[in-house]
Amino acid sequence: MSSDLDSAINAAKKAGEIIQSAYQNKKNIVKKGNLDFVTNIDIQVEKKIFEHLKCTEYSFKGEETGEIKKKSNKKWIIDPIDGTYNFIHTIPFFAISIALMEGDNKLLLGVVYNPITQECYWAENGEGAYMNGIPILVSQQKNIHESIFLMEHGHLDESKNKYLQCMTQLMLKKNVDVFRQGSSAIMLCLFAKGAFDAFLCCGDELHDYAAGLIIAKEAGAIISDWKGNEWNNSSNYILATNKELKKQIVEETQKI
Ligand code: IPD
Ligand code: CA
Ligand code: CA
Repeated sequence: MSSDLDSAINAAKKAGEIIQSAYQNKKNIVKKGNLDFVTNIDIQVEKKIFEHLKCTEYSFKGEETGEIKKKSNKKWIIDPIDGTYNFIHTIPFFAISIALMEGDNKLLLGVVYNPITQECYWAENGEGAYMNGIPILVSQQKNIHESIFLMEHGHLDESKNKYLQCMTQLMLKKNVDVFRQGSSAIMLCLFAKGAFDAFLCCGDELHDYAAGLIIAKEAGAIISDWKGNEWNNSSNYILATNKELKKQIVEETQKI
């Protein structure tokens, strides 16, 4: 394990202690938009992650505290709590998400940690993906008609519209079943460990999915946009699935 990954796991676990003690307590909540919230705990967690990340020569971009630019072309991308709605309502389905990116498109590592279930997922480029140290692999499902997918959308109406169109096509034309759970970071990890057969989202932001994407890729996923092109950071239409299902899914998603 590289020292960067070690530092990211350590930062996630230290910051996770704040969430563990605050979980059942009343939080100070600020509404940022429709179903989009931030709490005092999100901000404390992000600051704690920053304190514990050793490689301070890298740039840092946190969802809540913004960007600190350094000369390095590597950047930490942080979502202190992905799934804040669930956190507020004591639904134990949210995570700290930490990714390291080089340039605009190359993900180097990712850590997704749920401090309540204490499941910690991590991956770094070329080294496989793990959950609490156990290797994980994506589903081997070959038949779209027997598949269960995870889907998420962002806050804008356009993404909700595309999400609904896509879900309708997949459910009615391909007999797919679909779950939505409120944390893209964890959903990508559940997909990565083979619990679901694909993950699709539209309109989410890089901090929501960066860490989960590299974990899914290292667990064997093919990551593309909804047209089937290799994913790059200019698109937030994401499809993560296995090789066999990709073609069958893109037959529908490319029309949307
Ligand atoms: C949210 C989650 C959710 C996605 C929303 C995000 P937050 O993040 O990633 O899965 O659908 O668009 O805002 O606000 O809980 O960090
Ligand atoms: Ca998020
Ligand atoms: Ca968040």
